[in-house]
Amino acid sequence: MTHTYAVVLAAGQGTRMKSKLYKVLHPVCGKPMVEHVVDHIQELGAERIVTIVGHGAEKVQDQLGIRSEYALQEEQLGTAHAVLQAATVLGNLSGTTLVVCGDTPLIRPETMKALLHHHNETNAKATILTGLPKDPTGYGRIIRNDEGHVERIVEQKDASAEEQKVNEINSGTYCFDNQALFEALKLVNNDNSQGEYYLPDVIEILKNQGNIVSAYATDDFEETLGVNDRVALAQAETQMRARIVEKHMRNGVTIINPENTYISAEAVIGSDTILQPGVMIEGATEIGEDCVIGPNSHISTSQIGNRTTVHSSVVKNSVIGTDTSVGPFAHIRPDSEIGNDAKIGNFVEIKKTKLGNQSKVSHLSYIGDAEVGERVNIGCGTITVNYDGKNKFLTTIEDDSFVGCNSNLVAPVTIGQRAYVAAGSTITKNVPADALSIGRARQENKDGYVKKLNLK
Ligand code: UD1
Ligand code: CA
Repeated sequence: MTHTYAVVLAAGQGTRMKSKLYKVLHPVCGKPMVEHVVDHIQELGAERIVTIVGHGAEKVQDQLGIRSEYALQEEQLGTAHAVLQAATVLGNLSGTTLVVCGDTPLIRPETMKALLHHHNETNAKATILTGLPKDPTGYGRIIRNDEGHVERIVEQKDASAEEQKVNEINSGTYCFDNQALFEALKLVNNDNSQGEYYLPDVIEILKNQGNIVSAYATDDFEETLGVNDRVALAQAETQMRARIVEKHMRNGVTIINPENTYISAEAVIGSDTILQPGVMIEGATEIGEDCVIGPNSHISTSQIGNRTTVHSSVVKNSVIGTDTSVGPFAHIRPDSEIGNDAKIGNFVEIKKTKLGNQSKVSHLSYIGDAEVGERVNIGCGTITVNYDGKNKFLTTIEDDSFVGCNSNLVAPVTIGQRAYVAAGSTITKNVPADALSIGRARQENKDGYVKKLNLK
C-alpha cells in the first residue's frame, strides 16, 4: 500500500481578512478553519500531517497541538516555498502527499479520498482537485490543452483576459508523488506578478518533464470555497451550517427552520429532540433525546438530559438533568448543575449552583454560589446574597426545605432539611432542620389611623 502524507498550508498572514486573528484560526461554525481541515485529513488516515506555520505560529500550534507536526516558514514567499519547508520532515519519504490549504474548510474527506483514488488510478505524479464555481474570480484557473489534458495553472493576477474566462479553478488541494513534488519545488521561480513562489507552477514543471498530471473535478462547486475575506467567511459559515443541520435532521432531530438554527460542529443531539427557530448551540454541547429547545435559546458547552425543555433561555457551561424544564427567559450561568425533574422558571438566574432532583425555582430569583438539595421549593423573588463586594459566599439549602417568596438568604448561610423560611425574610443566621424561620419586621395594623391623619 502507498504511504499517504499531508501538508497543510497555514503560514499566510491572511491580509484580506483585515483581522487581528490569524486567518486559519477564524472559526466556521465555532471551529477554527484549520481544525476542520485537519479533521478531514485525519479521516483519510494520513500517516503524517505537517502544518506549515509562520506568522502567528504559536497560536496555530496551540490550536492543533499534537494532531500535527510543524514546519516553520519564516517569510511568506508563496505556497511553493511553504510546501518546501516540509522537506525536512517528508523530503526523503516515498508515497503520496496531499497538500491542502488551511483556508478551505469545506472540502469533504470523501472528496479528498476520491482525489487520492483518482491520482492512484491515473498513475499521475500530480492531481489537482478542481471546481466549477459560479464566479471563478480570484482563483487559479486550470488551463487544458486541445485534448483536454491539464497543462498548467494560471493565477488570477497573471491570467490573460482569455484565461480569466476559464471557469475551472484550482481548489488549492492536490495529490503529489512525494519525491517528484520535492524535486519539482526546487525548480519553481518567483517570476510572476506577485513575485511569489507558486505551488501551482509545480504542475507545469511536472508536465514538461513528461509526467502524467491529472485533475479531479468535484461536482459540488461550493466545496472548494477558499476563505480569503469576511465575505467568504460568511459563505463558508452558511454552507457548513447547512451541512451540520442536515446531519442532525438525518439523525432524527426535528429542526423547524434549518436556515435559522445554529449548531456547532461538535454538538451531539439525540433523536426526537425538536429545535425551534433561532436556537444557537455552541461548543461541545450534548443534548439528549426527546428534548424541546424553544425559540432563541442559546446553549453553549453544556449537557442536557433526555426529555428536558429549554425555552428562550441561555445556558452556559452547565449540566441539566432529565425531564427538567428551563425558562422561558432563564439564565443558567457557568458551573451549574441542575438535577432531574427540576424546574427553573421565568426570569431566574442561576450561577455556580447545584440544584437537586425535583427542586424548583419557578420565578424571578437569583441563586448563585449555592447548593440546593432535592425537593426544595424556592419561592418567587428569592435572592442568595452571595457577594459582599469582595468575596463570594456559599448558601446551602437542604433537602425538602421551603423558601418563601421574596426572601434574602445572606451567605454564608444554611437552611436545614425540611425547614421553612417565611415569605419576605432576610435570613442571616443558619436555620436548623425542621424549623420555621421568620426574619422580617412584624406587621402592625393601626385601626382608624387613616382618618385620624386626615388622609382621606
Ligand atoms: C491559492 C492558489 C490558487 C487557488 C487558491 C484556492 C497559489 C499561488 N494560488 O490562492 O491557485 O485557486 O489558493 O483557494 O497557491 N500560505 C502559506 N505560505 C505562503 C503563502 C500562503 O502557508 O507563503 C498558505 C495560506 O495560509 C493559505 C494557503 O497557503 O492557507 C493559500 O494561500 P492564499 O494566499 O490564500 O492563496 P490564494 O490567493 O487563495
Ligand atoms: Ca486562499
